[in-house]
Amino acid sequence: MSNIIEIIKASVYYDDVCALKNINLQVKNKEFLAVLGPNGGGKSTLLKVILGLEKLNQGEIKILGQSPKKTRNSIGYVPQFSKFDRKFPVSVIDVVLMGKLGEKIKPFYKYNKENEEKIFEIMNKLNIYHLKNRQIGQLSGGQLQKVLIARALVMQPQILLLDEPTASLDAKTKTQIYQILKKLNKEMTIIIVTHDIGVISAYVNSIACVNKELYYHGKAELSNEVVKKIYGCPVDLITHGTIPHRVLKTHVEGLYD
Ligand SMILES: Nc1ncnc2c1ncn2[C@@H]1O[C@H](COP(=O)(O)OP(=O)(O)O)[C@@H](O)[C@H]1O
Ligand SMILES: [Mg+2]
Repeated sequence: MSNIIEIIKASVYYDDVCALKNINLQVKNKEFLAVLGPNGGGKSTLLKVILGLEKLNQGEIKILGQSPKKTRNSIGYVPQFSKFDRKFPVSVIDVVLMGKLGEKIKPFYKYNKENEEKIFEIMNKLNIYHLKNRQIGQLSGGQLQKVLIARALVMQPQILLLDEPTASLDAKTKTQIYQILKKLNKEMTIIIVTHDIGVISAYVNSIACVNKELYYHGKAELSNEVVKKIYGCPVDLITHGTIPHRVLKTHVEGLYD
């Protein structure tokens, strides 16, 4: 099975507000997909649908050939940064271990040596092991983002979903996060919601533009004109040196290119 995610003619409404309208999306195993679009365009809703946290009003969704409810433990999720309460008095290691608890609270869960080693290995990879006893309120934005990625990885997911993980990070930290994701992409499918239109083409292999409707660009390329179309206004496209500049094809409703 090459498609790990399959969404067919799906719509999501919050009461009478339509968040996603008749969208189609197929994501291949080990794909690295960037989801772009304006605020309120339905990007977070799309991730929540894949996680099984929001239900479809119409259409179908299959993750690994099953309903999202059944695949919840195969998906790692880094929620949108602004919604994370940094005042919550917990240490880095506590937050990372929350990833082991999943949706249900298991008060008698104890981690054994083997689990512990795996978790420390993940923290080392993300260069946050030395922070393990630090309170999360005392981390930089980039460090906290890496902690949240570590938390999403402890269940060893097949799919990793990240909702604007680099928002409000400086350029250097953004690059670090993308380099980490690029490495992780060798082992898992990644979907990232982002506004980093200037840098993503160096890392991702496909782009979906979401503004209630969804337009998929496999092997996508970006141009100012298309970016303007996606966001409804001109956005600075920053290209860095040797990064290939890509041009997106025009949106054609209901078609995959
Ligand atoms: N829980 C909710 N209840 C009601 N409306 C919601 C809820 N979540 C999102 N919406 C609405 O759905 C639309 C899409 O939201 P969202 O998926 O968060 O967009 P994005 O992540 O692209 O900013 C917006 O109009 C938003 O106000
Ligand atoms: Mg959002």
